[in-house]
Amino acid sequence: MAAARFVERLNQQIAYEFAASQQYVASAVYYDSETLPRLAAFFYAQAVEERNHAMMMVEYLIDADAQVTIPGVAGPETGFDDIVAPVALALEQERRVSDQIGELMGVARAENDYLSEQFIQWFLKEQVEEVSTMSSLLAVVQRSADSPMLIEDYLAREHAGSEGADPTAPATAGGAL
Ligand SMILES: [Fe+2]
Ligand SMILES: [Fe+2]
Repeated sequence: MAAARFVERLNQQIAYEFAASQQYVASAVYYDSETLPRLAAFFYAQAVEERNHAMMMVEYLIDADAQVTIPGVAGPETGFDDIVAPVALALEQERRVSDQIGELMGVARAENDYLSEQFIQWFLKEQVEEVSTMSSLLAVVQRSADSPMLIEDYLAREHAGSEGADPTAPATAGGAL
């Protein structure tokens, strides 16, 4: 049985993950409209990842026989001043999510909810990766803000194709997209 306080906090996190997904769709659409297809593809893929994170949390709650509430989602930022802004926003968002996942870990520990602690562990590792990827991308985008094609080349080189499925990832409700 998952601790009630963990269940409540995880339901809240589902809303943050869906909001992150929605934000990345908005950022992808912005880049698409600027004809920066690699930046667009990067954020479209990121949006799917966030949606999958939400659905992993949904699956965990279903498996734990806990109540799942599919939330409404805060509207994303859609107006950007320049091509750096969406990446800066993404890094800020990933740092915030890292703190949120840390809080979830804290709740699981405080409640001696070992199963939930084990579940949330994967997300800690995932956040290290996401913050690192976004801060590298921000460095590249800032350096080459006046030559967007260099950013496109960087993404084509460093983020070609999708990463392979992570066999340690938690199960996703309905299957991962
Ligand atoms: Fe996430
Ligand atoms: Fe993320």
